[in-house]
Amino acid sequence: MKLLQGNCIELLKEVGDNSIDLIVTDPPYGLDKYGVKNDRDIWAYKLSDYYRVLKDNSWIALYSSIKEIGNVIKEIETLGFVYEWQHITYINNGMVRGRLGFNKYMVCLIFRKGVSKIKKQICDIKVVSTSSKRRNAIKHPTPKYTEAIEDIIKNLSKEGDLVLDCFMGSGSTGIACNNLNRNFIGMELDEGYFKLSKQRIDDALHENTEVEEK
Ligand SMILES: C[S@@+](CC[C@H](N)C(=O)[O-])C[C@H]1O[C@@H](n2cnc3c(N)ncnc32)[C@H](O)[C@@H]1O
Repeated sequence: MKLLQGNCIELLKEVGDNSIDLIVTDPPYGLDKYGVKNDRDIWAYKLSDYYRVLKDNSWIALYSSIKEIGNVIKEIETLGFVYEWQHITYINNGMVRGRLGFNKYMVCLIFRKGVSKIKKQICDIKVVSTSSKRRNAIKHPTPKYTEAIEDIIKNLSKEGDLVLDCFMGSGSTGIACNNLNRNFIGMELDEGYFKLSKQRIDDALHENTEVEEK
């Protein structure tokens, strides 16, 4: 596990060409609300380094706001990727109140670089449950569900592969990688969120080590 604090625009320059097996990331959505930091526009879907660092015939999975899906697909395809699928997290008992109703799902868009193959077929909807205890335990405004990220990682990579998340937030992708024996590079700009993700990933590593020792 390699965890880096800083601006991924700079940090990505240090990552080698064709060195990453899978990118799973959750960039700032361009919504600039709910107190989410560094989230003014969809600049984070325009980084040409995604294409450079990813190995040929591999996958990139990016969470997106529903509002920006069209623009995100356009920007990512402009980089050279081809849109292939989407993976939905359906939060069984979740209820984010919108103006017209309640929002209960999140979308992750999946693109390929070349003729990428899948490792394991999965369903395109992952049903998860939440609780106020779980929500309050993670001190980040937009944590994703580790079990949903695990499905995506199983689908698109194999054990021992190197996964990159350059917008790590609270570290959910790193925890999923740890649980599935993938190597991981995580980047996060905010010092507080970086410490949080490091702590969560360390805790997950420790838990798994304890399980193995029994
Ligand atoms: C949508 S959140 C990611 C949430 C994450 N998937 C999780 O489960 O916690 C996006 C994160 O990107 C970080 N970020 C914004 N700009 C960045 C940059 N230039 N470099 C690295 N991280 C950045 C934000 O601080 C925020 O924590």
